[in-house]
Amino acid sequence: VENNKALLEAMAATSRAVEKTLDSILRVPNGPEARVFEAMRYSVYAGGKRLRPLLVLASAELFGVEKPQALRVAAALECVHCYSLIHDDLPAMDDDDLRRGKPTLHKAFDEATAILAGDALLTIAFEILVDEKTHPDPYVRTELVAALAKASGGHGMVGGQMIDLSAADHELDAQAIFRLQNMKTGALISFASEAGAIMAHASKQSRAHLQGYARDLGLAFQIADDLLDVEGDENEVGKAVGKDEDAGKATIVGLLGIDRARQQAQILSDQAIDHLAEFDDKAALLRAVAHFAINRRS
Ligand code: IPE
Ligand code: IPE
Ligand code: MG
Ligand code: MG
Ligand code: MG
Repeated sequence: VENNKALLEAMAATSRAVEKTLDSILRVPNGPEARVFEAMRYSVYAGGKRLRPLLVLASAELFGVEKPQALRVAAALECVHCYSLIHDDLPAMDDDDLRRGKPTLHKAFDEATAILAGDALLTIAFEILVDEKTHPDPYVRTELVAALAKASGGHGMVGGQMIDLSAADHELDAQAIFRLQNMKTGALISFASEAGAIMAHASKQSRAHLQGYARDLGLAFQIADDLLDVEGDENEVGKAVGKDEDAGKATIVGLLGIDRARQQAQILSDQAIDHLAEFDDKAALLRAVAHFAINRRS
């Protein structure tokens, strides 16, 4: 319970800080291109749990990284995440009308604007990372850019989305579903969990522990998302529920059923926490995130 209170406070503080960081970055210009910035802001300021930013800040804190620098990495990652959601909701993909409790971007604006706002959010993320304010060492900035690019692209999130969409046509076994979910959801969560280690030149060993944590957390997080699609309440979840089965999505819930999927999520969350032993008390927040990932109601 105490953990939970600290986590809720950290989540609220992270939201405020990331939103403030992005406010100056996403200023709306005067020209007719203003519309795309208004759309970017609509998506970014619709709320969201800011879990990836929290992971960036928590991993950065492990190694004493300067907070303003970590916040810029958190902001960059949240831009990529928002872009992924905007495109995920498009009619050509999941065709959703509700996101974060509000009309999806293509409903509030239009499809072309939603595509462009997604493109601009993806690209601005790298602009944020390469700026000197993000880290004084250009080699670190390059590594951040490379890691985020890899996590976002065809071998990461985009590749996972491709498999997710084509999986509707054929059955996947558990191993194939885990691979899909590692790519579509795990890759960005892994970047979030490792960013602090990159910024601090942390040891290979520390990085390996964080990689192990993130891998299990990402899978647990996506199983929880798939459970919310089956069991969640639209008003609470802030997006349409009951869609994955109709769309023929390959999920662990679809494969194993609700009870075994929930057990699997619990095992993965426990495993994620086991990877944090070397960080002792410093990793309390990361442990709390692993609990939250599977017990959340939105
Ligand atoms: C939703 O992510 C998409 C998935 C990868 C499951 P979140 O559940 O983190 O969405 P927000 O940011 O809180 O809206
Ligand atoms: C989306 O997975 C993961 C992304 C990379 C955006 P889902 O399609 O299950 O996410 P929701 O349920 O729409 O948030
Ligand atoms: Mg999807
Ligand atoms: Mg979706
Ligand atoms: Mg989902």
